[in-house]
Amino acid sequence: MGLAALGFALARPLLHAIDAERAHGLTIAVLKAMPLARPSASPDLLAVNAFGMRFPNPLGLAAGFDKNADVPDAMLSLGFGFAEVGTVTPKAQEGNPRPRLFRLAEDRAVINRMGFNNAGHTETYLKLRARAGRPGVVGVNIGANKDTTDRIGDYVQGIRVFSDVASYFAVNISSPNTPGLRGLQSRDALRQLLDRLNAARQLQDRKPPMLLKIAPDLGDDELQDIATVCARGAVDGIIVSNTTLSRGGLSGPVASEAGGLSGEPLFALSTRMLARLYAMTGGAIPLIGVGGIGGAEQAWAKIEAGASLVQLYSALVYLGPALVTEILRGLESRLMAENLSSLAGVVGRKAHHGGSGT
Ligand code: FNR
Repeated sequence: MGLAALGFALARPLLHAIDAERAHGLTIAVLKAMPLARPSASPDLLAVNAFGMRFPNPLGLAAGFDKNADVPDAMLSLGFGFAEVGTVTPKAQEGNPRPRLFRLAEDRAVINRMGFNNAGHTETYLKLRARAGRPGVVGVNIGANKDTTDRIGDYVQGIRVFSDVASYFAVNISSPNTPGLRGLQSRDALRQLLDRLNAARQLQDRKPPMLLKIAPDLGDDELQDIATVCARGAVDGIIVSNTTLSRGGLSGPVASEAGGLSGEPLFALSTRMLARLYAMTGGAIPLIGVGGIGGAEQAWAKIEAGASLVQLYSALVYLGPALVTEILRGLESRLMAENLSSLAGVVGRKAHHGGSGT
């Protein structure tokens, strides 16, 4: 067990005894205080080439954990193959009133209605600028301020500000906690958004890949519209998915809190959507699978459903950083058991089953 994993094992009873958001703040503070380490090495077998980049392994940290780019290098040193910071909006904003983050321990789930609390573009840009040149894939997840009068303009600003420091962009139009944001997923609005973002990209010296992050609460027609609009190079990839507004099968009073649900109960829904989208796009657009991964079994199932890469967040709350190496070892041993030399042959091979996985 690594030092960070041991530390988490010892601290978990304390972290879970206090309010979830304070526990998260403490975790970030501890990670920030850790001496800067290099990204940990991964076996060659796990390397993934996607979006014209080499990822040392397919497991990334999902957005929302490191909203202000405080600890991307610490997370890479824990074994993640990439880290996504944000969501970041042009202006700093407080987000919703507390409490706004809830653990559902019996369900291995989290409900959040944070509402894009973040330090704004400038502060986050300066932190990323300060780490420029360090190894590791660090994506920037961009969004819009709650009170903006030009929502698309906020995303355009994100492209302008971060193009020289982002390994990739995640365009987040799927948070349930900013009123109206998810409307950008509808066909005409999405087309308009992507046209403007691509026009802005053309003007940048560096053009990081641009991925779209979508909600799991979309019907087949809506998903088909997204697949159609995203075809022919409008985006480089799609992240499936953000948190859900649905509340299937939860126990306990916290289940009725408003916000987005993540963790174990999101797995089946988000994996089904991933498989559908893979089938609709014929595998032509690389997908990142996220939602309810808590072990190698679910990570593998996402890859079989069509994910070239995967991400997680909620399971870290319950299982701590040891989970990262556990998942990587599990993926490696599955590859070896099948005598495969990379994950490429696994991607999407069960998409036609609806990615039923586990
Ligand atoms: C999130 N998520 C998220 N996503 C995003 O694009 N921007 C964000 O700012 C946030 N913020 C955020 C905060 C908290 C507390 C949670 C739990 C989640 C969503 C996250 O990136 C991911 O898509 C979902 O949580 C599903 O993955 P897990 O958590 O089930 O592994």
